[in-house]
Amino acid sequence: MRTQVGIIGAGPAGLLLSHLLHLQGIESIILESRSREAIEGTIRAGVLEQGTVDLLNATGVGERMMREGHVHHGIELQFNGKRQRINLNELTGGKKIIVYAQHEVIKDLVAARMDTNAKIHFNVKDVSLHQLETSNPVIRFRKEGDADFDEIECDFIAGCDGFHGPSRQAIPASVRSEKQKVYPFGWLGILTKTPPVNPELIYSNHERGFALLSTRSPEIQRHYLQVDPKDDIANWSDDRIWSELHARVDMKDGWTITEGPIIQKNIVSMRSFVCETMRYGRLFLAGDAAHIVPPTGAKGLNLAVADIQVLSTGLSEFYQSGNEEILNRYAEICLRRVWKAQRFSYWMTTMLHRDFEHSPFEYNIQLAELDYVTSSHAAATSLAENYVGLPLELTANHSVTL
Ligand code: APR
Ligand code: PHB
Repeated sequence: MRTQVGIIGAGPAGLLLSHLLHLQGIESIILESRSREAIEGTIRAGVLEQGTVDLLNATGVGERMMREGHVHHGIELQFNGKRQRINLNELTGGKKIIVYAQHEVIKDLVAARMDTNAKIHFNVKDVSLHQLETSNPVIRFRKEGDADFDEIECDFIAGCDGFHGPSRQAIPASVRSEKQKVYPFGWLGILTKTPPVNPELIYSNHERGFALLSTRSPEIQRHYLQVDPKDDIANWSDDRIWSELHARVDMKDGWTITEGPIIQKNIVSMRSFVCETMRYGRLFLAGDAAHIVPPTGAKGLNLAVADIQVLSTGLSEFYQSGNEEILNRYAEICLRRVWKAQRFSYWMTTMLHRDFEHSPFEYNIQLAELDYVTSSHAAATSLAENYVGLPLELTANHSVTL
């Protein structure tokens, strides 16, 4: 097989890249190790920045998101028994976010690619990358049930295979620098059949630990509790989850969270991770393959989308005119924005979670930070501009144009 761009992974990064390349007349093949049902059913986060929303709309895959997603103009921060609103819209000159689950974005992108007879191979095995330093890199893999290997010869390989995929490991360790922080926090996430508790997301710093109230639909809500990352979900009965949520989010004025059936629950650990570089020869890493953020800032999917905007712009310039400037600067352009999103995600995480190793002094500094960010116009503006998403700068003077 031969294609222009071989894409490993059908997450948001791989699917969006294939979609954007298709719109530019560039051919790609996607290899995905899981089934279509599995990628469309995995529950992940769900906040789309203004830039992500704009891109999905501009490229024809935003219709269901606009119909079924929830537009939010602010978020609430709860601490010291008070709830304070950050007005994202006013503080950013009219920007907003949309709460729409990542697996719904995946469904929309898969449907768009299937409509144009895209080549997506699901359930592939033993993917490996070869000849990355040449202009004809090769991906080797096995189709489901095949004993023999297939090969795809390409012009470029996009490593969109998430944190555990083979692409990052294909960059020699001598040219790869990995930086990470592992947090002593985990998130226990639930999906519950209840009506929305609040028109906007509530991030709560409580002395028992962090809690987040989010939404999915008029019938289904998504909530999170800070727990020990090594804790076992079997230790968390539904009653225990509700009683902990009550303790961390209920208000003295009688406001209380609505209980209902819990239809899904799991625990995830949290880390910050950046791989420098994001490019080796003809291999480009994008999304979780290159960087992970803790979910507190809701940046994971949006960072993947930003990488893909840069990569698809670089590839389309290359195919149109042979100009490799953006491809050559891919890692530098992406990493500048990635580090700012890392800073924001780290800051939100440390401000909102309870570190039980901390002294009372450090806990009071956290509360003062929340007091400052919700009472200073300058500090609230900084939170808001990061939350709705920083601009994507391709050059010193130009933001990405769609
Ligand atoms: N071969 C083929 N596909 C693979 C392999 C492999 N060896 N290993 C992993 N994959 C696939 C995974 O099954 C997954 O579908 O690559 C895909 C990677 O998708 P994501 O993990 O969703 O990563 P990405 O597309 O970068 O999206 C980033 O996902 O993890 C969240 O919070 C993160 O929202 C962010 C988004
Ligand atoms: C979610 O709805 O899953 C969600 C919302 C906000 C976050 C993280 C996750 O910061």
